[in-house]
Amino acid sequence: MATYDLADRSAIVTGGGSGIGRAVALELARNGASVLVADLAEAAGEAVTQEITEAGGTARAFAGDVADFAVNEAMVVAAGEMAPLRVAVNNAGIGGEAAPVAEYSLESWHKVIQVNLNAVFYGLKAQIPAMVAAGGGSVVNMASVLGSVGIPMSSAYVTAKHAVVGLTKNAALEYGTQGVRVNAVGPGFIHTPLVDANLTAEAQSALAAKHATGRMGTPREVSSLVAFLASDAAEFITGSYHLVDGGYAAS
Ligand code: NAI
Repeated sequence: MATYDLADRSAIVTGGGSGIGRAVALELARNGASVLVADLAEAAGEAVTQEITEAGGTARAFAGDVADFAVNEAMVVAAGEMAPLRVAVNNAGIGGEAAPVAEYSLESWHKVIQVNLNAVFYGLKAQIPAMVAAGGGSVVNMASVLGSVGIPMSSAYVTAKHAVVGLTKNAALEYGTQGVRVNAVGPGFIHTPLVDANLTAEAQSALAAKHATGRMGTPREVSSLVAFLASDAAEFITGSYHLVDGGYAAS
């Protein structure tokens, strides 16, 4: 059932093959967008594309690495072939190693900054001109509750997510009069393959208890906020950072 009207536009969802990105791709398609399901993992992107088309939606899979600027430009072209690009969700992200700052490897630092921060800049740089040409659009950058608070052993991730919030504000200030809105979303811990790959069951239980809800969130709980921000129902919302964190940051 459609909640928001996203007809007559295409939407890029990076990291659309898994977890939060998958839920976002499905939800945007349910609301009428033609979705470019972009993911490094080709088979995962294709599987989500198939899920969308089998449910009667429109989608196309796109395999590529968001950490390459040329890939972001190619995604904009591919999405524009379906319908004018008016929605982009820069969601692809990685966890990185767990270590205190002084022991954090240069390699992991650069990798996390490249994928979780630089690629969001690459996305904005490629997407915004197409949205201006389309008469306006909405970008949602996937930050994290860790875009406003820290957590030990994850300095690169926390740094990248804080920076995504700043980048979001700047892009919003620069393009608001041209009809392009840019917002950031800050999920609390959401049960996805990323969490399973980086945290033991014990660590997951301890983290779940840090949410006012006493549990982690689900990808669908994030995608409903993203669909709202992507839609014209959020027309006066730009440059802001929206927590969907089950009360994690309230304490
Ligand atoms: P996930 O690991 O389930 O999915 C991430 C997807 O991104 C995967 O399909 C992966 O192949 C893709 N990807 C990774 N690097 C890529 C690259 N360089 N180019 C293209 N695709 C790439 O992760 P999850 O949990 O769904 O996370 C999605 C976003 O949400 C990330 O930005 C993450 O930092 C953020 N987030 C996740 C939270 C959580 O608790 N799961 C909490 C707050 C934010």
